[in-house]
Amino acid sequence: MERYQIDSDAEGSVAALAADTKSAEIVGCCEVIEERLDVSQRPYATRSERQRSRTARRRPVIENLCVKRGYRRRGVGAALVRACEGAVRRWDGQDEIFSQVDCDNVDAYNLFRKCGYACLFADSTCTKVVLDDVLFAKEVPVTKQMMRKMLNDEVSLTSRQD
Ligand SMILES: CC(C)(COP(=O)(O)OP(=O)(O)OC[C@H]1O[C@@H](n2cnc3c(N)ncnc32)[C@H](O)[C@@H]1OP(=O)(O)O)[C@@H](O)C(=O)NCCC(=O)NCCS
Repeated sequence: MERYQIDSDAEGSVAALAADTKSAEIVGCCEVIEERLDVSQRPYATRSERQRSRTARRRPVIENLCVKRGYRRRGVGAALVRACEGAVRRWDGQDEIFSQVDCDNVDAYNLFRKCGYACLFADSTCTKVVLDDVLFAKEVPVTKQMMRKMLNDEVSLTSRQD
C-alpha cells in the first residue's frame, strides 16, 4: 500500500512523492512547473519561436512523472497526477493543466487519457536529452503530444473520454 504526499505546494511549483508505507521507500514522483507555453497550435511547427512566444503565457505543466518498476499498474502514477492537479486547483487563476508526452510513450499517453486529458496537437519541435553509447548526454528531436485538462470541467471531460 502506498501513501502520497505533496511536498511543496507553493504557487508556481508542486512536487508530489509516493512512498511504500512498509519500507518508506520513495516509489514515485511527479512535479508541476509553471512554464511559458504556447498552445495556439495552427500551424504550430511552421511558426517561428518569436511568433510562438507572443501567444505564450505561463501555464502549469506536469513534469518528471515516474513510478518505480515493480510498483507500476497499481494506480500510483494516476494518484500522483491527481495530487498535483489538486494543488494547482488552489493556485490563483489556473483552470487548466498541461502535459507533454513523447508520441511513442503509450503508457504515459494512456495514463493521461484515463485521467481526463485531451490531445491538443503533436509538437514536432521538441527535443529530449538521451544518453549515447558512451553515456554522454545528447539532445535529440522528438515529437510530443500536447495534452490539456480543464480543471473545472471534471464531469464533462470524463463523459467525453471514450
Ligand atoms: C507512465 C507511468 C508513470 C505510469 O505509472 P503507473 O503507476 O504504472 O500508472 P497507473 O497504474 O496509475 O496507470 C493508470 C493508467 O495508465 C495506463 N497505463 C499505465 N501503464 C500502462 C502500460 N504499461 N500499458 C498500457 N497502459 C498503461 C492505463 O490506462 C492505466 O490504467 P489501468 O491500469 O486501469 O488500465 C510509468 O509507467 C512510468 O514511470 N514510466 C516511465 C516514465 C514515464 O514515461 N513518465 C511519463 C513521462 S510524460
